[in-house]
Amino acid sequence: MHGLQDGKQIKVGVLGATGTVGQRFILLLAEHPFFVIHALGASSRSAGKQYAKAATWKQVKPIPSQAREIVVQECKPEHFSECAIVFSGLDADVAGDIEAAFREAELAVFSNAKNFRRDPHVPLVVPLINTSHLSIISQQQALHSPPLKKGFIVTNANCSTTAVVVPLAALERAFGPIESCMITTMQAISGAGYPGLPSMDILDNVVPYISGEEEKIEWETLKILGGIAEEDGTKSFDMHARHPLRISASCNRVPVIEGHTECVSVRFTRRPPPSPQQVREALQAYTSDAYTLGCPSAPRHAVFVHEEPDRPQPRLDRDFQQGAGVSVGRVRQCRVLDIKFVVMGNNVAIGAATSSIINAEFAVVKGLVQA
Ligand SMILES: NC(=O)c1ccc[n+]([C@@H]2O[C@H](COP(=O)([O-])OP(=O)(O)OC[C@H]3O[C@@H](n4cnc5c(N)ncnc54)[C@H](OP(=O)(O)O)[C@@H]3O)[C@@H](O)[C@H]2O)c1
Repeated sequence: MHGLQDGKQIKVGVLGATGTVGQRFILLLAEHPFFVIHALGASSRSAGKQYAKAATWKQVKPIPSQAREIVVQECKPEHFSECAIVFSGLDADVAGDIEAAFREAELAVFSNAKNFRRDPHVPLVVPLINTSHLSIISQQQALHSPPLKKGFIVTNANCSTTAVVVPLAALERAFGPIESCMITTMQAISGAGYPGLPSMDILDNVVPYISGEEEKIEWETLKILGGIAEEDGTKSFDMHARHPLRISASCNRVPVIEGHTECVSVRFTRRPPPSPQQVREALQAYTSDAYTLGCPSAPRHAVFVHEEPDRPQPRLDRDFQQGAGVSVGRVRQCRVLDIKFVVMGNNVAIGAATSSIINAEFAVVKGLVQA
């Protein structure tokens, strides 16, 4: 099914391997059916140390044996030359130059950082909804001189964008364009990496500001939900322009460790709009291409719809399907727009490392990466 039935494995590296997202990459890759951890990179503070000594390990499971003794390298392509893929959980301050150098060195880069998300030739892919955007990769490679054969960059979205675009995409598939959308987030502390906010700032508190977050949700959603236009053989992201979509996001940090919860109201173009029951059924029925094509990390339920009136909740629902899908509940009529609901996504799983890994699996299935 995934094109690797001959048992071939693909050597991969992790950049930013010591961080919050990097640690999740290590856990997922250690159990992966065809990706094998081969090299790990972080800052010069960590380079030269064995991974177990370099990382401030904060996961429930112990450090996998495959990674414990690997000596962490500086993030230079020559240390990763045997890898076909690198996964990046790099700090945005350094991700731009480092990821560009790895692409130049003919590695496939799957990144969590924001640096290339707005690049007109880099796909911004939430693997449960817009894997079709990977079709722009050949254009990205052709822009280089000489053109790249294997190197490219694919980014995944901001963690709060990721959770909300999955139900929005499912609704657009079932009922046509959404015209406007209001989003209020309650975001976990781990979204800011370790150690995150000081405990004195977040315990017993809600912080109604996360720098740059509202702009990311409002812009990234348009790139992800939009299509790809083609003119004179050149592809471009249409940013949902054929059916303009207005989005207003309000972002809050709350004292939750993992799992972003978001209250969402939408208005559809079509009149009359779908009923809450039709919306529930459409969300539950939605299946991702990544799952259909057999990507091993894709969840059975891209969207799981809760019937209980007090779900989803981050503590109860963030580990369902290993955090690879999103949970929706409280689907009901909105008296201002049409329909409102609550969505919860695990920010360090589908909001980060899991997205990159499914994107890479999909690229393998499509022959964009070879062993
Ligand atoms: N946390 C989330 O929920 C989440 C979700 C989606 C996307 N993201 C994005 O993913 C990226 C990583 O986030 P995080 O939360 O994992 O951050 P983090 O815990 O602060 O980890 C940052 C990583 O970058 C490395 N690094 C820092 N400076 C470096 C340098 N000069 N050269 C090479 N490596 C360097 C660090 O290595 P050292 O340990 O050696 O310093 C560490 O491995 C960020 O771009 C973030 O915006 C995070």
